[in-house]
Amino acid sequence: MSIEELESIAQAMVAPGKGIIAIDESTATIKKRFDSVGVPNTEENRRAYREMLLTAPKLGEHISGAILYDETIRQATKAGVPFTKIMMDAGILPGIKVDLGAKPLAGFPGELVTEGLDGLRERLAEYARLGAKFAKWRAVITIGEDTPSGTCIEANSHALARYAALCQEAGIVPMVEPEVLMDGDHDLDVSYEVTEATLRSLFGALYEQNVMLEGTILKASMVISGKDCPDQAAVDEVAEATVRCLKAAVPATIPGIVFLSGGQSDEQATAHLNAMNQMGPHPWPLSFSYGRAMQTAALTLWGKDMQANFAAAQNMVVLRAKQNGLAALGQWKK
Ligand code: 13P
Repeated sequence: MSIEELESIAQAMVAPGKGIIAIDESTATIKKRFDSVGVPNTEENRRAYREMLLTAPKLGEHISGAILYDETIRQATKAGVPFTKIMMDAGILPGIKVDLGAKPLAGFPGELVTEGLDGLRERLAEYARLGAKFAKWRAVITIGEDTPSGTCIEANSHALARYAALCQEAGIVPMVEPEVLMDGDHDLDVSYEVTEATLRSLFGALYEQNVMLEGTILKASMVISGKDCPDQAAVDEVAEATVRCLKAAVPATIPGIVFLSGGQSDEQATAHLNAMNQMGPHPWPLSFSYGRAMQTAALTLWGKDMQANFAAAQNMVVLRAKQNGLAALGQWKK
C-alpha cells in the first residue's frame, strides 16, 4: 500500500466533525465494565453489546472508525453479518487493538511496558485480511514520586515505533497511544512536563524507525490535573496546556490527533475537546477516540435491560457521538 493510501485513511479518521469510538476492551477489561452494571461476562453478552453499539442508527454521521478487540473483529450480528461489513456499510473504518497489554517493567517498580511485538507482522497480515484499516497500541506512563523514568519512556517509545513501522508495512494506519495516566495527586505542570517528554521521545523513536508521519495518527492523553490533586485545573487551563504541549512536541505532518478520555466524565471529555478547538485553528485536526466517555451512559442503560433498553442505549451512544463531533468542530454547547 502506498503512503497516499495510508494518508487518506488517516485523514478519513479525523474528517471534520468525526472521531473514533474505542470498543477494544480486552476480555479482562470488559469484565470490569460489565461487573459495574451487573452483566455476566460471556462471549454472547460481549457480542450482543458490541452489536448494539455498532448497529446504532446513523452512528457513522459522527464516527469515522471503531477500534475492535481480537475477539470482536471476528464476530457478527445475531443475523450473521460480520461486524466489519456492518461498519464499512455505515462508513465506519474497522480498527484493531494489537498490543498485548502493559506489563511490569523489570527493574523499575511501579512502571509498565507494553508487550506484543513478537509475531506482530503475522498478526497484522491477518487483521488486514479481516478488514482492519487502522490499529492501536497503548503505552502507559505512570506519574509518581520517582516516575516516570527515562528508561520507561524510552522502552515504550521504542515499542510504539516498531509497532508503527510494522503497521505501515502491512498497509494499516498506526494509531500511536502513549497514555500518561491521570492517577495521582500531581498538578497540571507535572502532567505537562511528563506529557511533553513522552511525546518528544515518541517522535524521536518514530523518526529512527522510518515511520511515515503522514500515515500515522496520534492518540494522546490531555494535560490534566491528577485525579487526586486538590487543585483541579479548569476547562480552559486544561485546553490551553494541552494545545501548548502538543505544539511543542508534535510535528505538523501528523494528519490528526485524537484524545482518550482516561477517566474523565463524559461531559468533561467533551468540554475539554470543545475548548481546544475553540482556540484553533491548530496544525492538526483535534478529535476524540473515547472509550468510557462514549460508552458509559449506553452501557448503564443496556445493562439494566438488554432487550427493553436496546434502542435507548443506541440513542445514548449516538448522542455522545454527536456531542463529541460538535466538540471536534468547537461548536458544542453545554
Ligand atoms: P478511554 O477513553 O476510556 O480512556 O479509552 C480509550 C482507549 O482506547 C484507551 O486505550
